[in-house]
Amino acid sequence: MSAGGAARTTPVVEVEDVRKTYRSGTIEFEALRGIDMRINQGEYVAVIGPSGSGKSTLMNILGCLDVPTEGRYLLGGEDVSRMSEAELAHARNRRIGFVFQQFNLLPSLPAWRNVELPLVYAGVARADRRARAVRALERVGLGDRVNNRPGELSGGQQQRVAVARALVGEPDIILADEPTGNLDSASTTAVLELLDELHASGRTIVLITHEHDVAERAGRSLVIRDGLLADELVAS
Ligand SMILES: Nc1ncnc2c1ncn2[C@@H]1O[C@H](COP(=O)(O)OP(=O)(O)OP(=O)(O)O)[C@@H](O)[C@H]1O
Ligand SMILES: [Mg+2]
Repeated sequence: MSAGGAARTTPVVEVEDVRKTYRSGTIEFEALRGIDMRINQGEYVAVIGPSGSGKSTLMNILGCLDVPTEGRYLLGGEDVSRMSEAELAHARNRRIGFVFQQFNLLPSLPAWRNVELPLVYAGVARADRRARAVRALERVGLGDRVNNRPGELSGGQQQRVAVARALVGEPDIILADEPTGNLDSASTTAVLELLDELHASGRTIVLITHEHDVAERAGRSLVIRDGLLADELVAS
């Protein structure tokens, strides 16, 4: 990562008038009603807002897990709507690390196998994968738990495995959707400190939360209400 000024002002995420309408049967619901935002390389941005305001909908679009109904999303300068399924999967794998509220670990696999998954998709050689997965687990303080399955780990430890999985491929962006929603306060602090460290090492962090004290870690908070950007708070 370059330490120069240019890197700091390179947008990694550009969202232009993004709308998302969910349809179930004849019922339509507009979960995002025209969102504009830009996130620069190396920024730490929180997205906050009440339950149902559209935060996860936005995160799914930013993470290329879903596409906008209208509007444009540029990821690293590339228009996501012009990508094929294969290109999307590739962009997702190469550029984005996910952390979810429910951890989303595979219960039958030991920690290191969960962590190596993004590297499997990226086509990294087997021996390399194990070494990198173990290093990522050491980085989150779980060097002594690499062979444990998720069910043998505490909630906080499981979420740290998920953080290791998010960082192992060295993605540009870490997207975390309520990563501390199921954690006690000690584990919350541990996970937030890990995100701080990742930010300090140059990663772009997008943290979705409805808790203001969690959002205070970020340099900037975008407030979403009823599918619209309602406010922007910049840390002093
Ligand atoms: N697949 C879907 N089909 C229909 N409506 C949906 C779907 N997914 C979400 N919604 C609706 O879109 C709105 C936004 O949902 P979203 O999950 O983005 O909210 P959120 O801000 O993440 O809320 P929370 O804080 O509770 O996680 C909600 O009203 C929700 O009911
Ligand atoms: Mg949500």
